Amino acid sequence: MSNEVESESQQPTPYEQIGGEEKLRELVDRFYDLMDLEPEFAGIRAMHPTPLDSSRDKLFWFLSGWMGGPSLYIERFGHPRLRARHLPFAIASDERDQWLRCMAWAMLDVGVEEAMQQRLMESFYQTADWMRNTPG
Ligand code: HEM
Repeated sequence: MSNEVESESQQPTPYEQIGGEEKLRELVDRFYDLMDLEPEFAGIRAMHPTPLDSSRDKLFWFLSGWMGGPSLYIERFGHPRLRARHLPFAIASDERDQWLRCMAWAMLDVGVEEAMQQRLMESFYQTADWMRNTPG
Protein backbone atom coordinates (compact mmCIF):
# COMPACT_ATOMS: atom_id res chain seq x y z
CA MET A 1 0.00 0.00 0.00
CA SER A 2 2.76 2.43 0.86
CA ASN A 3 4.13 2.00 -2.66
CA GLU A 4 0.85 3.18 -4.07
CA VAL A 5 0.97 6.34 -1.99
CA GLU A 6 4.53 6.91 -3.07
CA SER A 7 3.78 6.47 -6.76
CA GLU A 8 0.76 8.73 -6.51
CA SER A 9 2.88 11.53 -5.12
CA GLN A 10 5.54 11.20 -7.85
CA GLN A 11 5.32 13.52 -10.81
CA PRO A 12 4.54 11.65 -14.03
CA THR A 13 7.22 12.05 -16.67
CA PRO A 14 6.41 13.81 -19.96
CA TYR A 15 6.72 10.34 -21.55
CA GLU A 16 3.90 9.06 -19.31
CA GLN A 17 1.88 12.24 -19.68
CA ILE A 18 1.76 12.19 -23.46
CA GLY A 19 0.68 8.53 -23.46
CA GLY A 20 3.86 6.44 -23.44
CA GLU A 21 5.39 4.38 -26.24
CA GLU A 22 2.33 4.26 -28.49
CA LYS A 23 1.74 8.02 -28.50
CA LEU A 24 5.42 8.86 -28.88
CA ARG A 25 5.70 6.53 -31.87
CA GLU A 26 2.63 8.21 -33.36
CA LEU A 27 4.19 11.65 -32.82
CA VAL A 28 7.49 10.68 -34.46
CA ASP A 29 5.69 9.07 -37.40
CA ARG A 30 3.56 12.18 -37.94
CA PHE A 31 6.69 14.37 -37.68
CA TYR A 32 8.44 12.49 -40.49
CA ASP A 33 5.25 12.16 -42.57
CA LEU A 34 4.89 15.95 -42.47
CA MET A 35 8.57 16.43 -43.25
CA ASP A 36 8.12 14.15 -46.25
CA LEU A 37 4.90 15.77 -47.50
CA GLU A 38 4.99 19.47 -46.76
CA PRO A 39 6.94 21.73 -49.14
CA GLU A 40 7.92 24.11 -46.32
CA PHE A 41 10.08 21.32 -44.84
CA ALA A 42 11.78 20.39 -48.12
CA GLY A 43 15.06 21.95 -46.93
CA ILE A 44 15.48 19.64 -43.94
CA ARG A 45 13.83 16.69 -45.72
CA ALA A 46 16.62 16.79 -48.30
CA MET A 47 19.22 16.19 -45.56
CA HIS A 48 17.54 12.95 -44.49
CA PRO A 49 17.78 9.53 -46.12
CA THR A 50 15.10 7.76 -48.16
CA PRO A 51 13.30 5.85 -46.83
CA LEU A 52 12.93 7.54 -43.45
CA ASP A 53 12.57 4.30 -41.45
CA SER A 54 15.91 4.56 -39.64
CA SER A 55 15.31 8.25 -38.87
CA ARG A 56 11.93 7.34 -37.36
CA ASP A 57 13.47 4.65 -35.18
CA LYS A 58 16.36 6.80 -33.98
CA LEU A 59 14.24 9.81 -33.08
CA PHE A 60 11.72 7.56 -31.30
CA TRP A 61 14.50 5.82 -29.33
CA PHE A 62 16.09 9.14 -28.46
CA LEU A 63 12.90 10.96 -27.42
CA SER A 64 11.84 8.00 -25.27
CA GLY A 65 14.76 8.65 -22.91
CA TRP A 66 14.71 12.43 -23.41
CA MET A 67 11.10 12.51 -22.12
CA GLY A 68 11.85 10.36 -19.08
CA GLY A 69 10.85 6.97 -20.52
CA PRO A 70 13.14 3.99 -21.29
CA SER A 71 16.63 5.02 -22.51
CA LEU A 72 16.28 3.11 -25.77
CA TYR A 73 18.79 5.20 -27.74
CA ILE A 74 21.55 5.03 -25.09
CA GLU A 75 21.02 1.26 -24.70
CA ARG A 76 21.78 0.86 -28.41
CA PHE A 77 24.35 3.54 -29.18
CA GLY A 78 25.68 4.95 -25.90
CA HIS A 79 25.94 8.70 -25.38
CA PRO A 80 23.87 10.48 -28.08
CA ARG A 81 26.57 13.11 -28.93
CA LEU A 82 23.70 14.87 -30.66
CA ARG A 83 25.54 18.04 -31.63
CA ALA A 84 28.46 16.11 -33.10
CA ARG A 85 26.08 13.84 -35.03
CA HIS A 86 24.46 16.89 -36.63
CA LEU A 87 27.74 18.52 -37.71
CA PRO A 88 27.68 16.91 -41.20
CA PHE A 89 24.48 18.90 -41.88
CA ALA A 90 24.45 22.70 -42.28
CA ILE A 91 21.97 23.84 -39.64
CA ALA A 92 21.21 27.59 -39.47
CA SER A 93 18.17 29.35 -37.95
CA ASP A 94 16.06 28.44 -40.98
CA GLU A 95 16.69 24.69 -40.62
CA ARG A 96 16.18 24.92 -36.84
CA ASP A 97 12.85 26.67 -37.37
CA GLN A 98 11.70 24.16 -40.01
CA TRP A 99 12.42 21.33 -37.56
CA LEU A 100 10.54 23.10 -34.76
CA ARG A 101 7.53 23.99 -36.94
CA CYS A 102 7.34 20.42 -38.16
CA MET A 103 7.38 19.14 -34.57
CA ALA A 104 4.80 21.72 -33.41
CA TRP A 105 2.51 20.67 -36.26
CA ALA A 106 2.97 16.97 -35.45
CA MET A 107 2.14 17.56 -31.76
CA LEU A 108 -1.03 19.37 -32.78
CA ASP A 109 -2.04 16.62 -35.21
CA VAL A 110 -1.62 13.75 -32.74
CA GLY A 111 -3.41 15.71 -30.01
CA VAL A 112 -0.69 16.34 -27.42
CA GLU A 113 -2.31 18.34 -24.62
CA GLU A 114 -1.76 22.09 -25.03
CA ALA A 115 0.22 22.70 -21.82
CA MET A 116 2.48 19.76 -22.70
CA GLN A 117 2.93 21.08 -26.26
CA GLN A 118 4.22 24.33 -24.80
CA ARG A 119 6.47 22.63 -22.29
CA LEU A 120 7.97 20.33 -24.91
CA MET A 121 8.39 23.15 -27.43
CA GLU A 122 10.55 25.06 -24.95
CA SER A 123 12.80 22.03 -24.52
CA PHE A 124 12.82 21.27 -28.25
CA TYR A 125 13.82 24.87 -28.89
CA GLN A 126 16.81 24.59 -26.52
CA THR A 127 17.99 21.36 -28.15
CA ALA A 128 17.38 22.52 -31.72
CA ASP A 129 19.09 25.85 -31.12
CA TRP A 130 22.12 24.06 -29.66
CA MET A 131 22.32 22.06 -32.93
CA ARG A 132 22.92 25.20 -35.00
CA ASN A 133 26.37 25.01 -36.55
CA THR A 134 26.07 27.48 -39.47
CA PRO A 135 25.64 31.28 -39.40
CA GLY A 136 22.36 32.81 -40.47
C1 HEM B 1 17.79 21.83 -35.59
C2 HEM B 1 17.29 21.22 -36.67
C3 HEM B 1 17.59 19.77 -36.96
C4 HEM B 1 17.92 19.26 -38.18
C5 HEM B 1 18.00 20.03 -39.48
C6 HEM B 1 18.16 17.84 -38.00
C7 HEM B 1 18.55 16.97 -39.00
C8 HEM B 1 18.99 15.69 -38.81
C9 HEM B 1 19.55 14.85 -39.84
C10 HEM B 1 19.73 15.26 -41.29
C11 HEM B 1 19.88 13.66 -39.26
C12 HEM B 1 20.55 12.46 -39.94
C13 HEM B 1 19.58 11.55 -40.57
C14 HEM B 1 19.17 10.46 -39.65
O1 HEM B 1 20.03 9.81 -39.02
O2 HEM B 1 17.97 10.23 -39.56
C15 HEM B 1 19.50 13.75 -37.86
C16 HEM B 1 19.65 12.74 -36.93
C17 HEM B 1 19.15 12.79 -35.66
N1 HEM B 1 18.52 13.85 -35.07
FE1 HEM B 1 18.25 15.67 -35.87
N2 HEM B 1 17.96 17.51 -36.68
C18 HEM B 1 17.60 18.65 -36.02
C19 HEM B 1 17.25 18.73 -34.69
C20 HEM B 1 17.13 17.66 -33.84
C21 HEM B 1 16.58 17.73 -32.50
C22 HEM B 1 16.05 19.00 -31.84
C23 HEM B 1 16.63 16.47 -31.99
C24 HEM B 1 16.21 15.95 -30.67
C25 HEM B 1 15.34 16.55 -29.86
C26 HEM B 1 17.23 15.61 -33.02
C27 HEM B 1 17.48 14.26 -32.89
C28 HEM B 1 18.13 13.49 -33.80
C29 HEM B 1 18.56 12.11 -33.57
C30 HEM B 1 18.35 11.31 -32.29
C31 HEM B 1 19.21 11.68 -34.73
C32 HEM B 1 19.87 10.32 -34.98
C33 HEM B 1 21.34 10.43 -34.61
C34 HEM B 1 22.11 9.19 -35.00
O3 HEM B 1 22.11 8.22 -34.23
O4 HEM B 1 22.73 9.16 -36.06
N3 HEM B 1 17.50 16.37 -34.11
N4 HEM B 1 18.96 14.99 -37.63
